[in-house]
Amino acid sequence: MRMVSEAKVLDVLRGVRDPEQQQDIVALGLVKDLRITDAEVSFTLAFAGQSPQAKVTMHSMASRLVGQLPGVSKVKVVMGGAAQPAAPAQQPHAHGGPPAGGHAVIPEVRHTIAVSSGKGGVGKSTVAVNLAVALRQSGGTVGIIDSDVYGPDVPMMLGSRGRPGMFDNKILPVEAHGIKMMSIGLLVNEREPLVWRGPMIHSFIQQMLRDVMWGALDYLIFDMPPGTGDAQLSLSQVIPLSGVVMVTTPQEVALLDVRKAIGMFQKLNVPMLGVVENMSYFVAPDTGTRYAIFGEGGGRRIAEEYGIPLLAQIPLDPETRAGGDEGSPITIRRADSPQARAFRELAAAVRKRLDELGALRPLPTIS
Ligand SMILES: Nc1ncnc2c1ncn2[C@@H]1O[C@H](COP(=O)(O)OP(=O)(O)OP(=O)(O)O)[C@@H](O)[C@H]1O
Ligand SMILES: [Mg+2]
Repeated sequence: MRMVSEAKVLDVLRGVRDPEQQQDIVALGLVKDLRITDAEVSFTLAFAGQSPQAKVTMHSMASRLVGQLPGVSKVKVVMGGAAQPAAPAQQPHAHGGPPAGGHAVIPEVRHTIAVSSGKGGVGKSTVAVNLAVALRQSGGTVGIIDSDVYGPDVPMMLGSRGRPGMFDNKILPVEAHGIKMMSIGLLVNEREPLVWRGPMIHSFIQQMLRDVMWGALDYLIFDMPPGTGDAQLSLSQVIPLSGVVMVTTPQEVALLDVRKAIGMFQKLNVPMLGVVENMSYFVAPDTGTRYAIFGEGGGRRIAEEYGIPLLAQIPLDPETRAGGDEGSPITIRRADSPQARAFRELAAAVRKRLDELGALRPLPTIS
C-alpha cells in the first residue's frame, strides 16, 4: 500500500475543530512535528488555553480520523502544550510490537485485570463494575477503564456523567463511588455511533494508559468488549496483564464462546485468574425456591476443563440489573444482600489468586 501523504493527513485534521474557537486545529497552528514513517503517523497537538474537554475531544478525534486514512496503521498523537514541548521520554514503548512492560507505562499500578468473555451480554460490565466496588470496599485503590469502545456502558453503570479534567498535560479520570474511571463514553455524545478500526482501538488503549493520570492504584480493571478481537489483542500487547477474569453464563452456547476466548488469552500468554459464572441461579423472593434458569454447572465445567478456579457464582437478580441501569451498583445500593456478598466473594477470590500467581511469577512489584 502507498504511504499516506502529509497533505492528506493535514486535510483530515482540518476536519477537527476547536469546539471553543470554532476554527480547525490546522488553521490554529496546533498540529506540530508531523512525521510519517511507512504506515505510522505521529504528530503533536500543541494545546494552549483549551479546556480539558476540548483537548481530550480534539485528541481523540484527531487520532481517529488519521487512523481511518488508507495506508495508515498506527497513529501517535502527543498532547503537547504551547509552553512545554512534548515529552517523548514518557513514551518509551509507544507502539505495538512486543509487550511493552506495563510497569514502564503505568508504574504505579500494581495489578491489571481484564474482565472478558467470548460472548456479549453475559454481564462483563456488571461484573467489572461490581468487582471494582468490592475491591474498593476491601480497602484497595481501584481504577476502571471501559475498553468497550463499541458500547461503553461503564459511565452509566457507575452513574457518572462527569467530564474528565486535565492537569499537567494529562487526563484526570472521573471519580465515581470512590473509583477512578475512564471511558470513551465520557468524551463523546451517547448517541453518536463510533466506527473503530483496529489501530484506533490500539491507540485508544494506549492513550488510556499513557495519557491518564491514574496515580497509585492497587487494581486497574478493564471492562472488555465482547469477542476475541482487536481490543483484547491490543491490551495484551500494551501491558502485561496480571490476569483475566472470564465471565460466562451457565448454558452450553455461552461456554462455546468462552472456550475460544480462553484459548486466545492462552495464546497471548495472559494468565487466567478464573471463571465467574453470572446469572447462575434465581431465588424467587416470595418462596425462596432456587431456579437454574440458564442451566447448571457450566462455570464449574469450564473451570475444571482448564484447571482454573471458579471464582464466584453470581445470582440472576432484578435489582442487580436495576443497579446497572440507574448507576448504583448492587454492591453499594444493597451492600448486605446475597448478590453483593457474591461480588465480595469474587473480590476475595481474585485477590487470593493474584497473590498465588504473583508468588509463581517473580515479577518486580512496586508497592
Ligand atoms: N446477575 C445479574 N442479574 C440480573 N441482571 C444482570 C446480571 N448481570 C448482568 N445483568 C444485566 O444484563 C444486561 C447485560 O449485562 P452487561 O451489560 O453487564 O453484559 P456485558 O457482557 O457487559 O454486555 P456487552 O457484551 O454488551 O458489553 C444488563 O442489563 C445487566 O444489568
Ligand atoms: Mg459490557
